[in-house]
Amino acid sequence: MNMQLIDLAARGGQTEHHYLLGQLRGLARGDAAVVVTYDDPRILLDALTLELRNGIYWDVTEAGPPAWRVRVRRREDVAASDLVDLLTRDHVRVDHLFATALHRSNAGDMAAALPSFRVFAACLRRHVETENEIVVPALSLPRSPRGDDPTSIMLHEHEAIIEHTVMIEEMLDEGLDDAGMLAPFFAIISGQLAKHEWREETNLFPHWMRALRHEPAIADELFPRAQALVTAGDEAAASVGIA
Ligand SMILES: [Fe+2]
Ligand SMILES: [Fe+2]
Repeated sequence: MNMQLIDLAARGGQTEHHYLLGQLRGLARGDAAVVVTYDDPRILLDALTLELRNGIYWDVTEAGPPAWRVRVRRREDVAASDLVDLLTRDHVRVDHLFATALHRSNAGDMAAALPSFRVFAACLRRHVETENEIVVPALSLPRSPRGDDPTSIMLHEHEAIIEHTVMIEEMLDEGLDDAGMLAPFFAIISGQLAKHEWREETNLFPHWMRALRHEPAIADELFPRAQALVTAGDEAAASVGIA
């Protein structure tokens, strides 16, 4: 494991944000960085974590004053620490599964695309089940009769994504596996997924995180249930080359 020392005092004319983002973007799997600074870096690291789509995990190893030291690792090198972390990582996996099916289909290799799509569909269903059936009933977030609150938006979007996934599954079940014919449906899901995950991570997960922090007993009860459901897809995902 390589350990890189990043001294924010050595950033020259760059802002702390810009300098550290550049350094952490290059952090390789299995490696770690130690950030040294004389100001509390936690707000900066929270912002960078969001910007890097939760791709890094950091913990304070020395809390100043005077000096702060923060160890930063790739998120994949650290076990999921809470429910939101678990679901955010699962977004990345669901995306990879879908992207793999899409690329193989675009390349005309339907024999390789179809298993990836089937595994994507199974993992998507488990992810949606976790959010709809495990998390939503346990956290009583305010709902609007107009249906424009983050929870209602999430539930509507799940229905739409599943509906398009089922359309493709039905076509495949009927033996219609022409890449050109499936392309428009793949394109719809691709757009829906990206927007949906971004909206969840931005508009809903911060509420879930706050609620779970206030209710640690609920958090402790939900996490293993969610983890069991999500990790049930590990073997199938590995079978199509996705960790
Ligand atoms: Fe979702
Ligand atoms: Fe999600």
